[in-house]
Amino acid sequence: MGRRPFIIDCDTGTDDAIAIAAALYCDEVEVKAVTSVNGNVAHQYTSRNNLNLLEYLGFDDIPVAKGAVHPIMENSYHADGTHGNTGLGCITLPEASHKKFDGRIASQLIYETALEEKGELELLVIGPMTNIAIMLLEHPDAAQLIKHIWFMGGAAVGGNVTTTAEFNIWIDPMAAHIVTQSGIPQTMVGLDVTTAAAMKEPHSTELRACGTKAAVLCADLLDYMFERRDKGGEDALMHDAMAFAAAVYPDCLECHDYYVDVECFGEYTKGHTMVDRRGKKGKAPNVSVALKVDEDKFCRWLVDTIKKSAG
Ligand code: BDR
Ligand code: CA
Repeated sequence: MGRRPFIIDCDTGTDDAIAIAAALYCDEVEVKAVTSVNGNVAHQYTSRNNLNLLEYLGFDDIPVAKGAVHPIMENSYHADGTHGNTGLGCITLPEASHKKFDGRIASQLIYETALEEKGELELLVIGPMTNIAIMLLEHPDAAQLIKHIWFMGGAAVGGNVTTTAEFNIWIDPMAAHIVTQSGIPQTMVGLDVTTAAAMKEPHSTELRACGTKAAVLCADLLDYMFERRDKGGEDALMHDAMAFAAAVYPDCLECHDYYVDVECFGEYTKGHTMVDRRGKKGKAPNVSVALKVDEDKFCRWLVDTIKKSAG
């Protein structure tokens, strides 16, 4: 069987960069493109981070495209307190010298790739869902062309930006509403699981010893996260890589099918993912929601996958 074709749509981002590395070295998938969106930091940085990262790791043939510079209906807010001013913490990648951005805007590149892949394309969506929503609005047939969306976002319970909203969804709730209601098969990997597993210092040590560019970069990113944690910030949570794990290593997660929609306007609840666990809405399930993670299995898988960069 051939590799599963994937596009990664992201707001790179420290944990996005680790998720991208995992996808690039995972035997089971072929990364067809990496597309950027406004999110953790401004789009000028998320897009540049993707270009620099792919050239740095030697993936010259994988297209990198720019996407939405702001959400559909909201103002832009960023998470530079978590990811540093330019998105990669204290790490500065060499500026890409020969790799250029694809000429297409992200939504168009994703749509054209979906056509080429004839219903087999899967999306790893690990930032606000703006690009995917724009594609669905511009191309009504796109929903039938995407095999599955694996997204990091939301929570059945709680939030990290507000008491009820997770960052990716809160940044662009309308986009998330459009995507969850699109009919595309999808899996939500939210804070319920991503806050239940954190990488530890021995993982960084093991990656550094592996010695490849990718493994050392991931070790540097982890070390930045440990410092951030020690100063009272977020732990070394692998939100985005866990959404990829759902796609290729489902054994580390427990998922259940529910009806999910997104609150777009509530004064207190904007960006909340309404996960109808009691079936109160009487609507058919539209999202598989991850509710439990095996931390040891997940962390082991992530380190082993990145170590495949050693060939
Ligand atoms: C999500 O927001 C970003 O900070 C992370 O990259 C992740 O996608 C977690 O809420
Ligand atoms: Ca992200």
